[in-house]
Amino acid sequence: MKVELPLILKDNRDSFLISDLKGELHTHKGVIDLSEIKGKSYGDVVKTHKGHAFKILPFTPSDFFRHFKRGATPIMPKDIGAIVAMCGLKPDSLILDAGTGSGMIAAYLAYFNKYGEVVTVEKRAEFAKIARENFRLAKLKNVHQIIGDVHEVAEGFKKEFDLIVLDMKDDYLFIPSAKKLLKVGSYIAVYNPYIEPSRRVYEVMKKEGFTDLECFEILKNDYEFKRVGTRPLTRVWHTGFIVIGRKC
Ligand SMILES: C[S@@+](CC[C@H](N)C(=O)[O-])C[C@H]1O[C@@H](n2cnc3c(N)ncnc32)[C@H](O)[C@@H]1O
Repeated sequence: MKVELPLILKDNRDSFLISDLKGELHTHKGVIDLSEIKGKSYGDVVKTHKGHAFKILPFTPSDFFRHFKRGATPIMPKDIGAIVAMCGLKPDSLILDAGTGSGMIAAYLAYFNKYGEVVTVEKRAEFAKIARENFRLAKLKNVHQIIGDVHEVAEGFKKEFDLIVLDMKDDYLFIPSAKKLLKVGSYIAVYNPYIEPSRRVYEVMKKEGFTDLECFEILKNDYEFKRVGTRPLTRVWHTGFIVIGRKC
């Protein structure tokens, strides 16, 4: 298959995002003339002036986390995976995401929600701008960005949502509004790096009558296989806690 932009140039260690076929890419293994990529197919190689080969690969969701620009700290793929798998996501869902931050979870939700829409709300314009660039890079057309405070913005929503994701300060204050905005049988997922706010969210959800409540964290331990033996590679393994509830 002939290459399309953006694409990835990859060797065993490095991954470079290419959005333009003009000019040169300088790597520590030499310089690549990007015009040489024209007319090539995925799986072909391009070589640096020192002869080091990079494979040409398509840009896919597995590249979002590595190559998206960062504003606010994004949710990691392991946590996004749990939310996607546990919260009844269908490919035609209407999803509310607050705050947008770097747009990481919004992008994954939009990608796996091909026929639906993600409404993502961010109060800081500079973060919304970074997220917009990321959505453009990922060619996502089904993300609707709103700049504003979700507490105020939500008062104007006329439709009910299939999923609400919160990753923002004072998340617990939005739980009563979320209850009103969700369709019956739908989920809310709240991500938080600290356990105290997660507990508060859990308690407010319980008070609001959400069911199937769960508070958990996902641990992903990476291992390195060395000649002398195998050992954990992950040094910081904690990212955040997720609280999930269902409106019944
Ligand atoms: C940790 S970041 C979210 C990261 C995002 N989930 C991602 O995966 O890239 C939290 C964001 O929430 C925004 N925020 C905080 N309170 C908000 C509110 N009331 N309404 C809208 N956005 C808010 C912050 O400005 C910040 O950008």
